[in-house]
Amino acid sequence: MNTTEAIHSRQTAKVLADSPWAPSLTQDEQERLREHLLNLAAKAPYHYKSAERYKTGGQTSSLPFRCYTLDGAACNTLASQLASLDPPPGKILNMLWAAELLIINTWLPDVFGTQPEHREMEPLPFVGNLRNMEHIAATSAAIQNMLLGATAEGYPNYWSSGGMMRQKSARNMLQISMEEVMLGAVFIFPKDAAERAEEIKPGKLREEGKVLGTFSKKVSL
Ligand SMILES: Cc1cc2nc3c(=O)[nH]c(=O)nc-3n(C[C@H](O)[C@H](O)[C@H](O)COP(=O)(O)O)c2cc1C
Repeated sequence: MNTTEAIHSRQTAKVLADSPWAPSLTQDEQERLREHLLNLAAKAPYHYKSAERYKTGGQTSSLPFRCYTLDGAACNTLASQLASLDPPPGKILNMLWAAELLIINTWLPDVFGTQPEHREMEPLPFVGNLRNMEHIAATSAAIQNMLLGATAEGYPNYWSSGGMMRQKSARNMLQISMEEVMLGAVFIFPKDAAERAEEIKPGKLREEGKVLGTFSKKVSL
């Protein structure tokens, strides 16, 4: 599949399983897919380096985003852990049961002034400056690269805002700092999802706003 075909083929597929699925890939295959998609994320354009404060642990990259990955088994474990929370999760459980891989993407906001030592919420609202806008843009480009890469390989996929995975209780489980802002939880589903799924829901806005003249204008000078 070439790039144009991948762009045209990509579509939201919210794959709902009615119980945890056995993975369709071996551990090695899952790892190769993970590395493939992360390499695509790393190739996205970015304009500004992340602030030094985010270069902790092994995550010393200048990229303005971070990616946290869970293989199929970890998705199932996360589903069990989330199920114990109050209020209980909804459809996210069904998607975690189906997922072959989950890639949670955060972006790293530039912040100003003294920051709280312990955060209950992500730093929202963030400062609306150009650098933060471009950090989000770069993170979005990285996510889109992964969606297209997954599509090109035949894996149904879905960009979710993260739902309850944004909250502190889930973030503690996921070990994702509340200083980072979640932009997308990318679900990668098995290639044979259509045969196994209880249901696959499309994106609500799939057909909306696509008429060229309604979002573009020829500039004549
Ligand atoms: C930043 C972002 C966040 C999204 N979050 C959600 C979400 O939380 N739930 C959801 O159902 N769809 C979410 N979507 C997917 C959109 O609903 C979907 O892209 C849209 O309906 C168009 O459908 P398509 O992806 O098939 O073209 C998100 C998309 C983007 C770009």
